[in-house]
Amino acid sequence: MKPVVREIMICIILGFLLVFFPLDIAQTVKDTPSYVGGGTCASCHKTQSESFKTNAHNNAYSIIKNTERYVKLKQNGEEGSCLRCHATGYGENGGFTDEETSPEFAKVGCEGCHGPGREHVAAKSDDTGQKRKSIQRKPDCGKCHLIHSHNG
Ligand code: HEC
Ligand code: HEC
Ligand code: HEC
Ligand code: HEC
Repeated sequence: MKPVVREIMICIILGFLLVFFPLDIAQTVKDTPSYVGGGTCASCHKTQSESFKTNAHNNAYSIIKNTERYVKLKQNGEEGSCLRCHATGYGENGGFTDEETSPEFAKVGCEGCHGPGREHVAAKSDDTGQKRKSIQRKPDCGKCHLIHSHNG
């Protein structure tokens, strides 16, 4: 190979690396689950995690999974119409998909109320308040409780 050809080749390869490598990083970040599961919260929030064990929201999924209405919807792939309120993070990155693959989210858990916790877990505890700001303190109860009527 002539030196000049080799240099052009190197430029092309470097160009490719520059164009595609950053995209690769962006893709990896996008694919990192934003939900971490309540088990991770428990390591720092023992009190809340203990008291939550008897909370009705733990049963949000188990009370629907054997109902005729849910089973029928699931057969048609339409279970999302229940799961957006009866599971944690349904349809979102790293949230509930089904009982077998994501059993930890088969309820309205910590992140069902406080939102996805990945950023909060990673945030530093310092005087900038990043740790607090990275999670929703007051849940929006109304997104599940406000307009609700069941017909079976
Ligand atoms: C590595 C430890 C750690 C983990 C894991 C963790 N937290 Fe926190 N969390 C903290 C600290 C520290 C604070 C700030 C507490 C303070 O300053 O009183 C906090 C504060 C909070 C607050 C209150 C925010 C506010 O505005 O006052 C909520 C709600 C919360 N965490 C929920 C969660 C949830 C849900 C999870 C799991 C997804 C979780 N935390 C995981 C350490 C953690
Ligand atoms: C907008 C949020 C939301 C959606 C969507 C939703 N639910 Fe509910 N569901 C709730 C809430 C909140 C409760 C508990 C309070 C209540 O009973 O109103 C509940 C309670 C229930 C209960 C126990 C009490 C009762 O009324 O019998 C069953 C069973 C149930 N839902 C089944 C379902 C099924 C099946 C679907 C899908 C067709 C569904 N829900 C969709 C929010 C929702
Ligand atoms: C049904 C919704 C709901 C669920 C589920 C839930 N929380 Fe909360 N959480 C709240 C509310 C409401 C507050 C009080 C917010 C306020 O008004 O300050 C709160 C407050 C907190 C706080 C702030 C400190 C405190 O005690 O006031 C922490 C930390 C916290 N929750 C952690 C958790 C963890 C960990 C889980 C899972 C084990 C969890 N929460 C599940 C609704 C919920
Ligand atoms: C992601 C959806 C969702 C959010 C957010 C949510 N809930 Fe619920 N909540 C439910 C479902 C579903 C049930 C039914 C669970 C069961 O009966 O086992 C329920 C049950 C309850 C119950 C028991 C009702 C009963 O009839 O036994 C109370 C009380 C309640 N929620 C209060 C709250 C409050 C207060 C908030 C906000 C701090 C909140 N919920 C946020 C979905 C939600």
